[in-house]
Amino acid sequence: MKLSVEDFIKLRNIIYDRAGIFFETKKLYFITKRLQTRMKALSYNDVDKYCNYLIFKDKFGSEMQQLLNLMTTNETYFFREDDQLKAFMQHSLPEVLDQKRITNNRHLKIWSAGCSSGEEPYTLGILLQESKLNLNPHRLEIVATDINTQILDKAGKGVYDSRSVRLVPPHILAQYFNPIGDRFQLSSQVKEMVQFQHLNLMDTFKMRLMRGFDFIFCRNVFIYFDQTSRKSTLANFYDCLNPGGFIYLGHSESITRISSAFNIKRRGGLIVHQKPGMKEDV
Ligand SMILES: C[S@@+](CC[C@H](N)C(=O)[O-])C[C@H]1O[C@@H](n2cnc3c(N)ncnc32)[C@H](O)[C@@H]1O
Repeated sequence: MKLSVEDFIKLRNIIYDRAGIFFETKKLYFITKRLQTRMKALSYNDVDKYCNYLIFKDKFGSEMQQLLNLMTTNETYFFREDDQLKAFMQHSLPEVLDQKRITNNRHLKIWSAGCSSGEEPYTLGILLQESKLNLNPHRLEIVATDINTQILDKAGKGVYDSRSVRLVPPHILAQYFNPIGDRFQLSSQVKEMVQFQHLNLMDTFKMRLMRGFDFIFCRNVFIYFDQTSRKSTLANFYDCLNPGGFIYLGHSESITRISSAFNIKRRGGLIVHQKPGMKEDV
């Protein structure tokens, strides 16, 4: 199948309007390959007709979901961007817990937004299990969301290949994973810590239900968005965070040109973004 630039732009706009994901023209081959799978499944050979189906006939959004499942990039692995995780555990988390002690609020809420197959939220779960911070498991919530329903199914199973666990320290691997053939089953102790939900970050109505978070990890998601989608997502994240809460983006992602609402702090040698809180320190 050959996708004309016109058809590519039409489809790109449909995906962008729904998911905030922006494909540059150089992604034409990527889109063509994935589109082919869906058109074959529906026995369509005309892209224009397929687009019209998506716009006018896909009443319950099931075809759009199938398409999005193919169009997202889900690259992830355990202990990704380890320096951020260390900064979180050694600096931001103790700081938030100290504030909570003062206000006698012991409930800790963490959100992995764009969690893919679960490696990021599960890594956070493992780190919290391992920490000496004496956290009450009944007062700890890790919510993990993604737009891709297929990847969420995989996340729920908690079974990983060796590529996913390649950066897991050996003693952690031995303690929290059971080998099954050449794969690794995450222990239920960690699996039970994470609640997975389907959520499109562009869905402003559902975003309004996400409240009271102390930490949002949205790493390596904004690279697929354009500036408008990033701006609206950050504005929503601001409302989802508690005062003094932190947002972690991927290494290559910065919010400085998108939002001035967050305080820029240095924690553990890294730049982090914090929602202004009750107690302002530098
Ligand atoms: C590259 S993965 C990042 C996974 C993990 N955060 C990490 O850093 O390893 C990007 C994820 O963002 C998700 N995503 C893309 N657009 C989204 C949207 N509009 N709403 C929710 N999730 C989205 C994709 O499905 C994908 O799983």
